Amino acid sequence: MKAPRHNIMTSTETIGFELSQGALRARRNAKWNQYGPDVLPAFVADMDFSVAAPIQAAIERIVRDRDYGYPLRNGERADRLVARVFAERMKSRYGWELSPDLVLPMADLVQGTCASILAFSDPGDGVVLQTPNYPPFRDAINSVGRRLLALPMRDDGTRHVFDMTELEKLVDRQTRIFLLCNPQNPTGRVFSRDELTALGQFAVERDLIVVSDEIHSDLVYPGHQHIPFASLGPEFAARTVTLTSATKSFNIPGLRCALIAFGTEDLRNRFHKRIPSKLTGSANIAGADATVAAWSECQPWLDAVMQHLLTARNRVRDVLAAEAPEIRFHAPEGTYLAWLDCSKLGLSTSAFQFFLDHARIGFSAGETFDPDCTQFVRLNFATSMPILDDILARMIGATRQNNR
Ligand SMILES: Cc1ncc(COP(=O)(O)O)c(C=O)c1O
Repeated sequence: MKAPRHNIMTSTETIGFELSQGALRARRNAKWNQYGPDVLPAFVADMDFSVAAPIQAAIERIVRDRDYGYPLRNGERADRLVARVFAERMKSRYGWELSPDLVLPMADLVQGTCASILAFSDPGDGVVLQTPNYPPFRDAINSVGRRLLALPMRDDGTRHVFDMTELEKLVDRQTRIFLLCNPQNPTGRVFSRDELTALGQFAVERDLIVVSDEIHSDLVYPGHQHIPFASLGPEFAARTVTLTSATKSFNIPGLRCALIAFGTEDLRNRFHKRIPSKLTGSANIAGADATVAAWSECQPWLDAVMQHLLTARNRVRDVLAAEAPEIRFHAPEGTYLAWLDCSKLGLSTSAFQFFLDHARIGFSAGETFDPDCTQFVRLNFATSMPILDDILARMIGATRQNNR
């Protein structure tokens, strides 16, 4: 049974979204079913929260009316509606003006990434990827025979940064794409205007296309600001393909609705020369209606979730600093993901295996984000406080045991 545990008052309503462990285990998602009942899962990027009421209502309406046909919403095709609501959201949040005609909805974002790589490069061409990074990006680059050029995110003592000099050395004449993930998964960096501008200028000089995954852009903490890469200026937009969806911030990844936004018509035409629109399909009706509801009606829910995530992030930071300082961690500037460096624990196995065996926690394994990161794990802290406290207590217990 769903049991909201944590309520946050807004000016208009009380928003409850935390779920008990019993309710979570009763679900049929990958996160809570991959392991047995003694393991606390903290891996895949789902939040352990119930969705906002307008999203639920949008889906219930489809089911209630058994309305499963090709969609038209108030005279508008569902894909077009998603494109228009997205364009309005970008204008109001970031002052980024783009035409809905340049927005192509589809089922999922990794599909859009892979299609963009195919459209803007040829076999053997270089694609730059900051590492560590979201594992399907590595797979997408490798599976279509492009060369993965790894640009390391280096720990400067306070956060993870990339180095423009290293980038200059990495990029050769046969490099076509910079695959940007901002906010970055798994380090949680939200790149600054200066960092993005330097990257953009470099892309202009070397004639690179920037494929910019901004799926985590709503999940940014106070003191930081998401800047859509294409909003930096027309010369950057002309080489930027933005990929995003409502699925991370509104917790609806199973509904399959994402989009590609082309910076210019020319880019869209180049894309379609290689990738016919019949191949990218379209979003399904539940995903499209849920996305429109999320972007137009669910901001109070997201604000409440962000308050909770901020508390959770700070709890991870403070508890680890006090009780397990060997685990190195920079509080993410965005996302609900914590990238934990466990190399000082001196483990004889991967950090993932250690915590699975000795703490019964299912983290994401560091080596899936970068083969060199066996001593890292990624923690998803988008859960209720009792579950998060249990995860932290188990980590501390296993770490102390290991130190003996
Ligand atoms: C950076 C990033 N991009 C894309 C995705 C997945 O998008 P989709 O499920 O639409 O392919 C994720 C999921 O965690 C992600 O973290």
